Amino acid sequence: MITFDITIDGQTVVAQRGQTLLAAATAAGLDLPHLCGSTRVGYPAVGSCRTCLVEVEGLTDLMPACRHPATPGLSVRTDTQRTERVRRLAIELLGAEMSTEARARHPDSPFMALAERAGADPARFGARTEARASDTSHPAMIFDPEACIRCGKCRAGCRDVQVNGVIALAGRGDAIHISFDSGLAMGESQCASCGECAQVCPTGALIPKALQEAGGRAAITTSGETVCPFCSVGCRV
Ligand code: FES
Repeated sequence: MITFDITIDGQTVVAQRGQTLLAAATAAGLDLPHLCGSTRVGYPAVGSCRTCLVEVEGLTDLMPACRHPATPGLSVRTDTQRTERVRRLAIELLGAEMSTEARARHPDSPFMALAERAGADPARFGARTEARASDTSHPAMIFDPEACIRCGKCRAGCRDVQVNGVIALAGRGDAIHISFDSGLAMGESQCASCGECAQVCPTGALIPKALQEAGGRAAITTSGETVCPFCSVGCRV
């Protein structure tokens, strides 16, 4: 394993060849803001939400930490006025993808937690989504389209990690939306009920029914390896 030093906010971090900045920072115990990115093994870098943008020494543009490779001697800053302003803006624009009601339905989601941490107002730009009914056709899961920010993390989990290939992003441009087996109701699709999508969804758009009925993520008061009762397989919550 080839390792080398990088610098994040003035702190020396040992990174491995092949790691992204986000993965290296997380392995070193740093908590870099991110939503669509994941540090779990096998997760592809989605790179859609832009909440992880950092300043890389020598580059003019901000770079997404979830996609930018850690290379020897790299120096980045996550805590400048510029990164904090852009991060707030990215979160506030994503917030406009959700309806007012959906934001209220999922107050304890990772998205809302990140907004609070960044000092962002998810309601700043209102809500540009139309009213759409939740898909409750699946026996264990709910899809709340008004809460979906179309980040694509559920697709990455379904397609690349669990290799189920049920969830896709359909449509083009502003009409892009989550689709189950090319347009079926979730309960009619070949969903294997693995729970991966609900586990990684940052907004609560995909959530186990039992968890939603129990009061959302706030209902979970402990964390660790467990087979929880909220979906059919069990996962780390
Ligand atoms: Fe990096 Fe979303 S976490 S772009």
